[in-house]
Amino acid sequence: MAATSRVPGFKDRTVEERRRIVTEHTRIPRGDLAALDPAAGLSLAQADHMIENVVGTIGIPVGVATNFTVNGRDRLVPMATEEPSVVAAASNAARMARDHGGFRTSSTGSVMIAQIQLVDVVDPYAARARILESTAEIAALADAQDPMLRSLGGGVRGVDARVVDTRAGRHVIVHLTVDVRDAMGANAVNTMAEAVAPRLAELGAGRALLRILSNKADLRLTRARAVFDAQQLGGPAVVDGIVQASALAEADPYRAATHNKGIMNGVTAVVLATGNDTRAVEAGCHSHAVQNGRYSALSRFEKDATGNLVGTLELPLAVGLVGGATRAHPAARVAIAILGVATATELADVIASVGLAQNLAACRALAAEGIQRGHMSLHARTIAASAGAGPDEIAAVAARLVADRQIRAEHAERVLRGLRGEGDPAAPAAGTALS
Ligand code: MEV
Repeated sequence: MAATSRVPGFKDRTVEERRRIVTEHTRIPRGDLAALDPAAGLSLAQADHMIENVVGTIGIPVGVATNFTVNGRDRLVPMATEEPSVVAAASNAARMARDHGGFRTSSTGSVMIAQIQLVDVVDPYAARARILESTAEIAALADAQDPMLRSLGGGVRGVDARVVDTRAGRHVIVHLTVDVRDAMGANAVNTMAEAVAPRLAELGAGRALLRILSNKADLRLTRARAVFDAQQLGGPAVVDGIVQASALAEADPYRAATHNKGIMNGVTAVVLATGNDTRAVEAGCHSHAVQNGRYSALSRFEKDATGNLVGTLELPLAVGLVGGATRAHPAARVAIAILGVATATELADVIASVGLAQNLAACRALAAEGIQRGHMSLHARTIAASAGAGPDEIAAVAARLVADRQIRAEHAERVLRGLRGEGDPAAPAAGTALS
């Protein structure tokens, strides 16, 4: 938790200054942030233990989003992404929610599902009944695999069975529902599924085939809600435009995919920064976007009684704080420390809030000035920096590139030479388009 997540001018600071601010706001020892240095982060030896056939690592920028208040607590939010504008957009949207209390969340708790597929069952409906009669025995067998989880208050919450018609015949599908507490839970539930499968095969008088978690984690839902100030958004017309954008995403799968991609820009960035499984979360979220057989928007935006915009988002979020890269990766450990979350549920609360903020920012830009203006000013900063502009020169060079509508390396070099008084002052070239 941060003392405050409101840090005006954070984006204009140097990396060193931002680190100082983060340590001051979170009380994390300054030295710990060194784990985010390209040279001091994940070592080759660590990487070699994480996956197979290692030849190196890849660096992804980690930025910190500001202005977030989630359930009354301020959080600085680390986000790992290669996409410009994402961190700035989330921070801007979070600022527009602050005056109305920030983000509020609710969740179902950390319940995951494991599936066991029984094939070659001659009497599937009777097999289902026999299995359900043995619920207590199956649950006890599964729980015995993980006494630690039991001691933490987790464990099996239920056993269910369905008959599913497939093109390869009629299968009995058993679900174990398991409270995995602060773990992502894949290992825990996969171990349980494998352990109970032989007994289920006996009870069903069939053969157990697949034994694996379901990434459709719809018993592990987090809901976020925030009110965004109409004035700060740009006025009533922008509010109406966002409501219309939201309505289109609900009705049209082509727009829904892009709308949800905007949500995932925020979600995946926090999931990745904290060392969680981005593919598991993405699979869960996209499967949750299918309603009544049609792919739709994950969020809703409405105008409230006072004319402000209220956004809601519901996501299945299988993320954890223990096990896997969340503990093994030094940068992930620092990201979790910066966030200051104590439980997997708190982490999910922040992730859903960032998803909603990201979505709002994209819809606001699309309903107002369009997405390219903000994107191009950030892109211009990148071009200015790669043309050799120093920290004191980047803003001026970038502003000139945008004004000249020429966001190109050779123009940045010319502008820079002009700024440094090295002759060849940059002249705006007529009629050149943004590139
Ligand atoms: C770009 O990464 C994400 C957006 O396309 C999302 C959206 O259109 O809502 C801007």
